[in-house]
This record gives sequence, structure tokens and C-alpha cells, in this order.
Amino acid sequence: MGGLIILGTFVDTPTRDAIRIRESYLCVVSLDTGKIVTLECLPSTDWNVFSDDDVFKLAGKEFEGYKVLRLRKSQFVCPGFVDCHCHAPQYKQIGTATDYTIFNWLNEVTFPNEAKCADLDYARSLYMKLVQRLLRNGTTCVQYFATNHVPASKLLADICENMGQRAFVGKVCADQNSRDYYVETTQESYEGTEEFINYVHGMKSGRDAKGKDALVNPVVTPRFVPTCSDALLTKLGELAKKHDVRVQSHASETVDQVLRVRKLHPDIGGGRDTAIFKHFGLLTDKTLFAHGTHLRDAEVDEIVRAGASVSSCPIANLMHSQAVLPVKRFHDRGLKIGLGTDIAGGYFASMLGPIRNAVIQNRTEEFVAVDREGEGWPTAGVKWPVDFKYAFHVATVGGAEALGIQDLVGTLDIGKSFDALIVDADRPDQAFDYWAEDGARFGFEKWVNMGDDRNVVSTFVNGRLVASRP
Ligand code: GUN
Ligand code: FE
Repeated sequence: MGGLIILGTFVDTPTRDAIRIRESYLCVVSLDTGKIVTLECLPSTDWNVFSDDDVFKLAGKEFEGYKVLRLRKSQFVCPGFVDCHCHAPQYKQIGTATDYTIFNWLNEVTFPNEAKCADLDYARSLYMKLVQRLLRNGTTCVQYFATNHVPASKLLADICENMGQRAFVGKVCADQNSRDYYVETTQESYEGTEEFINYVHGMKSGRDAKGKDALVNPVVTPRFVPTCSDALLTKLGELAKKHDVRVQSHASETVDQVLRVRKLHPDIGGGRDTAIFKHFGLLTDKTLFAHGTHLRDAEVDEIVRAGASVSSCPIANLMHSQAVLPVKRFHDRGLKIGLGTDIAGGYFASMLGPIRNAVIQNRTEEFVAVDREGEGWPTAGVKWPVDFKYAFHVATVGGAEALGIQDLVGTLDIGKSFDALIVDADRPDQAFDYWAEDGARFGFEKWVNMGDDRNVVSTFVNGRLVASRP
């Protein structure tokens, strides 16, 4: 099937506190497997001196005929973003209703929009727009909440497969405390979930007999504790175990929600989300909770012990939660953390939004926390705990770890899938200025802080070109 040989600069963040910049490297990507086969330093800092023949000699005869791509000096390859929490049907309302509080927003705006996905033509056009937008923005892997509807959830899985986006998709489950036009019976909910799991496992990009990794994966998805009866949570716990699949839900997100859950389940673990999910078999090493902004330290420890993870959604949390997730502090307790857009609780369809806001919220949160311990404030002059490279790490490696695909994506390494972007820090009409002497180091930092999709020249998932601009 051939492949691709890229000559140029490669930037990623294998650790939280350093950018790895590999300048003048040669990367071979096999289209057969979608993986990086070779990534090695070139014998000259000017990669344009190498003819195609030189390139094939350097790469190896077996790669002769692969397409050779020489990057410009202002361009670099970096890993694609992993969005751990996104509601596909809410893309219709993104950037609006940002003045509502959470339950009002669910009942008045969100449930009516999600209900519209009973119409498959409506859902198809919306989901195609969303997946295309996310790919253009450089998001190569997404964990989605679809809707209560089985057909529209299957459709979202199909669209991700066809458009080439790596995805974890959940049919949303809700059998109570919803609107009468958007609620399931308990039986519809769990039977629909099992039908959806079987459908996704049978898709053509599914995990095959040779152990090839699936592009699209099913996720058991109780919306959140208030919308799920005890009977439904019990059944969903059983399904997650039976099919050995991932689980996602909302946990400890907002003050209103925490108080409501406490009232609903006073007798399970003090009415706390983590204890309730654990009680129903839904806290596993494949569970990812969205938000977790109001988690207590003991609950974080419980999640860590289970091998589960949390998606921080900085924009949504700043908008709705009256708290932020202390990323650094929870990391230090051993928690696996990814980042999420939480479309449309978060109003930004690019992961650059959560990345920037994770940095911004940290600039106050760490200092407040230290002062609360009675230690006073640390003096200035230290480096900020969460910076752009730390947040980029969480948006790539962190998300991969949170979804259990850290061996597959997150960094640019031999053996990993080529889920990657070609970014150009010097495009016409871009949002910032770039000087040649900025190089890859400042080009990367400027793009993360000030750039947008106009800088994302190409998006690849598993070696396949899935979005590009001329
Ligand atoms: N809690 C229950 N449903 C939702 C949702 O759709 N978005 C957010 N942010 N929180 C929720
Ligand atoms: Fe959400």
C-alpha cells in the first residue's frame, strides 16, 4: 500500500515539563499499518539537499516509491489532539446559551437539541460538520457522548470511521429525571446499549483477529447519576464487564449536581458520585469521568486505585462548575488526566481552548491551594506549575493514557500510529506574526498560545490524510 516519508522538524511532549524538538529528521510512515516505521536524524541540518534517491537510500530500499514530503522551516509535525469529552449533538448549540446554569441549560437548551437526533438526516449533517471541524482543528481522537438514540449513535460511529477519526462513542443512557420527549425505559436503555456495543465491535475498522487496534470503540455511557435508575446502573455495570468495554459519565461536576446526587443516594457512600459508580460496578480500569472538579482527595485515590481516569474540561468548568480541576495536584496523587472540550458546555471546538484555559486556571488555583494550607504564598520567581508544554502533554499523552491507548498515540515514536498534524507557524492570514528566527521552539509556543486551525496544514489519523488545506 506504500507510505509516506517526511523530512523536517518533529515536536512532541513525552513528559510534562519539556518539549522534544527533533530538527532535520526523517520519518517513514507505513500506510499498510498506519504506524511510524522509522524516525531518525538526517546527516545534514538542511533537509532540502536530499534528492528522492538520497532519501530512499537513507530510509532503505524497501521504502522506494513512498511519497516524499519536505517540510518548510516554519513547519513541524506534532501529535494530534485527544479530546476526552465531547457531546456530538450539542455542536448545534455551541457558542450560545452560555448564560445558563447547568440544569437550566440541560432542560431548556440541550435536551431539546439532543432529541432532534431522532431524525437521522438532521444527525448526519450535524455530525459530519462536527467531525470535519474537529479534524481541521487537529483533533485526531475523540471520546463522544452521542444521544439516547441507538440509530443516531451508530451513525456517529459510522461517520467517524468513514471520515477517519479515531473515536470512542457512547450511546447515552437516561431512564429518569429527563424530559418526557427525551427519556428511555430501563430496558430500552440497556438493550440499546448492548445492541450498540455489538454493532461497533462488528464495524469494518474493528479490532481484527490479528489484534489490530480498532479505530472506533464503544463506550457504556450513563449520562450522569441523576438520569439513571439503580436498575439501569446495575445493568450497565454488568454490560461493561461482560463486553470488557470502556465506561464514561459525568462526575463531581457542579455544585448543583453534587447536591442533587447527594439527595438521590444518601445511603451510598454519602451520596458521592465516585462511591455510587463503584457500587454499581461502573468504576473500572476502563472508566473515564468527565470533570471531577469537586472530587475530594480520598475519591481521587479511589479512582487511582481502580485504574480509572478523569477528563478535565477547563472551559466548561470555568463556565459552570464554580471550581477548577487542580491538574498538577491530582497528577501528583497518581491520577490519569486528559483534556476535553465538553462541547457545548465548553464553547470552543478546538483543543487549543482547553489547553490555554488549563494554563490560565492553574495560575490562580495553585496559589489559592498553597495559601489554604496555611503556608502563605510562595514567592515569585519560580516557574509556573502548569505551562503550555504541560497542557499540550495533557492534551496528547494525557488523553491517550486516560483512554488506555498510550501505546498507540500521544507522541511521535516508532511503532505508534501516525495520528499527527503538520503545523505551519507562518501562514498567510494567520492570527499572529512569525519571524524566521523564532524557529520550531517559538513557532510551536506561539501556535499553542495564539494560533488556530489556519496553521494546521494537514491532519493524519493512522497514516491516512483526513483533513488538509491548500
Ligand atoms: N451533566 C449531565 N449531562 C451533561 C452534559 O451534557 N454536559 C455537561 N457539561 N454536564 C452534564
Ligand atoms: Fe459533558
